Amino acid sequence: MLDKINESTAFLAPLLGGEPPRVAIILGSGLGAFADDIAGRREIPYAAIPRFPVSTVAGHAGRLVAGEIEGKSVLVMQGRFHFYEGYSMQEVTFPVRVAHALGARTLLVTNAAGGVNPLFRAGDLMVIEDHVNMFPDHPLRGENHDALGPRFPSMEFAYSPRLISLAVAAAERLGIRLHRGVYAGLQGPSFETPAECRWLHAAGADAVGMSTVPEVIVARHAGMECFGVSVIANSAPPLPSPLPSSLSSSPHPVSHEVVLEQSRQASLHLSSLLRHLLRHL
Ligand code: HPA
Repeated sequence: MLDKINESTAFLAPLLGGEPPRVAIILGSGLGAFADDIAGRREIPYAAIPRFPVSTVAGHAGRLVAGEIEGKSVLVMQGRFHFYEGYSMQEVTFPVRVAHALGARTLLVTNAAGGVNPLFRAGDLMVIEDHVNMFPDHPLRGENHDALGPRFPSMEFAYSPRLISLAVAAAERLGIRLHRGVYAGLQGPSFETPAECRWLHAAGADAVGMSTVPEVIVARHAGMECFGVSVIANSAPPLPSPLPSSLSSSPHPVSHEVVLEQSRQASLHLSSLLRHLLRHL
């Protein structure tokens, strides 16, 4: 593991130019446009990086983009690796390890998620205050490398209260509707049943998705300051139980296309928010 990280890092460091990246940013489904405005951009396809996994899912460009946004040197992951694609948890979180090894000490994560809080609507943004880890494997399972972080890392304040406050203040100033809530991370790839959505909400979750949690766990293990935003791409079916037979199939079933389209629309607000955050980091 350490050798793999060193190999990728040694390949990338000279390509990133003088300054090491301060902030790593992971862009989720349909949110890749944020990387278009990077100054002095250098693009490195994942496929070109030794030891890097290769992205497969539609809507994920699969490259690193390095450069500057709002005067901060950033390393942007355009496309991420999902557990449901078949990657191991070590592969899913590998880019976070490499970003840290390159010098990044802050991680900004975005994702598309389903809203299980009945007040959420498609196109809303939610700043992640905390998560519930429901993945069937853990990225820190197995031998712990003390050089990478402690055996039993705390997950209290996993999402930086400082960055959450900055984002909430920014949203107010920019007139952006921003929820705060708990993100439940599930393995997918099937979307949740209505019963699972009700159960997740009863369990304290506001949004549900198939990413982010492993990345944040590994970033916290490495001591990085983390911040996450979910684009609510679809609201979970708010169906009563038992289900009336007339409603037994939703007129607007969730699909990957709906998720991508909603994320694109919300991505303008998300970009303003991230820019503001970077300016004031
Ligand atoms: N569930 C899980 N992941 C998702 C969803 C959802 O409804 N929407 C976008 N990503």
